[in-house]
Amino acid sequence: MVGEPVIEARDLRKWYPVRGRGFASLLTRRKPEFLKAIDGITLSIRPGEVLGLAGESGSGKSTTGMTLLKLHQPTGGEVRFQGLGLLVNETNRTRLAFRRQAQIVFQNPYEALNPRYTVAQSVGEPLSIHFPHDRDRRREMLLRAMDRAGLRPSEDYLDRYPHQLSGGQLQRVAIARAISVEPRFLVADEPVSMLDVSIRAGILNLLCYFASELHMAILYISHDLSTMRHVCTRIAVMYLGRIIEQGAADTVLDAPLHPYTQALVGAVPVMAGGRTRAPSNLIGGPADAIHLPGGCRFHPRCPRAMDVCRERDPALDLVASDHEVACHLYDSLSMSAPVRGKQ
Ligand SMILES: Nc1ncnc2c1ncn2[C@@H]1O[C@H](COP(=O)(O)OP(=O)(O)OP(=O)(O)O)[C@@H](O)[C@H]1O
Ligand code: SF4
Ligand SMILES: [Mg+2]
Repeated sequence: MVGEPVIEARDLRKWYPVRGRGFASLLTRRKPEFLKAIDGITLSIRPGEVLGLAGESGSGKSTTGMTLLKLHQPTGGEVRFQGLGLLVNETNRTRLAFRRQAQIVFQNPYEALNPRYTVAQSVGEPLSIHFPHDRDRRREMLLRAMDRAGLRPSEDYLDRYPHQLSGGQLQRVAIARAISVEPRFLVADEPVSMLDVSIRAGILNLLCYFASELHMAILYISHDLSTMRHVCTRIAVMYLGRIIEQGAADTVLDAPLHPYTQALVGAVPVMAGGRTRAPSNLIGGPADAIHLPGGCRFHPRCPRAMDVCRERDPALDLVASDHEVACHLYDSLSMSAPVRGKQ
């Protein structure tokens, strides 16, 4: 993949305070506690690349997407967009420019769209914010976005309301809205999990097209590894706020190294209300993200845990070309060369 990263995270953390920050805790001297939704992740996405972010429910996938987009403020670490740190020298102008260039498509198009807005109003809203003085340009960009999202002929959809559209058409409207301002970075958070299986491929093909033809950098969040093979160039697997394995999509899917990835790849996805349940071949569920186990945070569930796993937290190390894993089983393979995405 050519080009400098569009978006990068370095040692990114998002911790939510859960207890011990109020007046009462000052009196009782309770130690503050945090839910470590993301706990030191490093990744980068280049133009034309689709990075798949996989992992069980609660592993921190959506928080990662929201924090990269600055919709959540990070607790620590850094987000860089086109080589520049987002928090450094930020002005209203740079903030607005980033808002335009980084967009998101959510899981549920029924919630994402205002039921009182026509398609033209929904898709046109971000354009009105970012190009308030250029009506002709707005119209041109609106029609182009709808065409790119597969709403053809665009004129047939402009005056329709959400209740007059199918689920697939609604998601295409939500996508047209996100790409109307021609972003460089797009987060797609479970964009097909609420849609009928028969129309999922069409939506996923759009992501491939945006990456390959429009050179967007895309973060595709999903519990469904089988769709990742079709859509993603690279895959990162999250467990309790950390990336535990990442690399080229085929490598991670065909030769997973981490016992957790192996369990995910071997598991038939179990859906419950659009969420992933624990893979059936793993013991128990994840620990809670407030009281994390010491050493490797996966060790209570790992069928291959060793003594060292209870004592030392494994770093995400490069073990082969474009393949990183955080697991003591591969300590002897660890390559010392600095790599992209090293954590
Ligand atoms: N605003 C919040 N305040 C406190 N905790 C939160 C908040 N948002 C998320 N969390 C917690 O952070 C952790 C990660 O949540 P996140 O939604 O990122 O997971 P996910 O991998 O996207 O899960 P899913 O597959 O269910 O969408 C979870 O334990 C969740 O309960
Ligand atoms: S470090 Fe140990 S406990 Fe963690 S995944 Fe590897 S073998 Fe299992
Ligand atoms: Mg989520």
